[in-house]
Amino acid sequence: MQVYLDNSATTKLDERVFEAMKPYMTEQYGNASSIHFMGEENSLALIKAKEDVGLILNCDHDNIIFTSGATEANNMIIKGVARANKDKGNHILVSSIEHPSILKTVKQLEEEGFEVGYIPVDSSGIVDVDQVKKMVKPETILISVMTVNNEIGTIQPVEKIGAFARKQGILFHTDAVQAVPYVPIDIKQWNVDFLSLSAHKFNGPKGVGLAYINRRAKIIPLIIGGGQEYGLRAGTYNLPGIVGMTEALKLAYEEREETVKKISELSAYFWKRLQEEVEDVQLNGDLKNRTPNNFNIMFRRIEGEAILMDLSVKGICVSTGSACSSDVLKASDVLKSIGLEKNDLNSNIRFTLGKFNTREEIDYTIDALKVTVERLRNFTPLK
Ligand SMILES: Cc1ncc(COP(=O)(O)O)c(C=O)c1O
Repeated sequence: MQVYLDNSATTKLDERVFEAMKPYMTEQYGNASSIHFMGEENSLALIKAKEDVGLILNCDHDNIIFTSGATEANNMIIKGVARANKDKGNHILVSSIEHPSILKTVKQLEEEGFEVGYIPVDSSGIVDVDQVKKMVKPETILISVMTVNNEIGTIQPVEKIGAFARKQGILFHTDAVQAVPYVPIDIKQWNVDFLSLSAHKFNGPKGVGLAYINRRAKIIPLIIGGGQEYGLRAGTYNLPGIVGMTEALKLAYEEREETVKKISELSAYFWKRLQEEVEDVQLNGDLKNRTPNNFNIMFRRIEGEAILMDLSVKGICVSTGSACSSDVLKASDVLKSIGLEKNDLNSNIRFTLGKFNTREEIDYTIDALKVTVERLRNFTPLK
């Protein structure tokens, strides 16, 4: 059996999304910026995609900029906003558990002279809004707090932070990559000025994402060249990707209730069996304030890598932390931020469910895990 439980790293492309993309890879290949009829048709498809996305995210469709993914969107927003608003201040606030595409970007900005404040999280992995209020300075130009954490699935109080930031006249960005379909995004209601998404996290294609940009805010483009995306992001439009992402987002929202229900039931079953049948496990993060697909679990006294490899041999795909950093064997900063003991930092596995998982797969995984954990615990010298 093959079981994919790494849906926060990426997801399987939905067949219906692939069908929607196909014509734009074969017959309708005109450049959406060309003036001839093939270009014109694709330009209309591009506008339609923006309108559809705007309706779903509750924002003006002119403020949607398509990118190659959330990494690019995050780089574009954080660097572009910081550099364009230097005259107003040089202070940026980010949560300490952001994705590396934010944390490494602000590190680079520190080298350029910006000052960055890292908002701590509590032991369940949640940002305290009062802490944000305390850390704000007169020079603060931008706050960035993710909607859902990619490692432990905790949901952050973005609406409250957005309301506060708007009142203070501070720009606010949220990386909402892990939110779809669990947390319904509402750009107006949340008072966000900038938001990032990546299609492959919700059964869309890889290599396409978007940045919502409040066009009243000043921003310097990251990628320049042709005049695409109102001069904010140059490069020929990736229309198959854009159409695919839009279709994936539409499906995620249309089927939201049943998907969330299915995944919640499956994960409750997974967690119940795991607690009953595997000794000494602990959930990292918050049991309530989290998306139902994510289980980041500590298996005391065993190396997470050993569990991962053992499960992989049995056909089960999981991760030890965020997939983007699993080729570098380094303890997770997120798990450090929520206060895990040094000895426990390398004993964690992230299981992330998706809409294609089944109960049989969960049964297979728990059965395999029981054997794996028992075998590895028999070897370990750790007590
Ligand atoms: C929270 C978060 N932000 C940003 C990204 C980057 O997305 P991409 O690699 O698709 O650019 C990821 C991917 O893991 C993520 O989980």
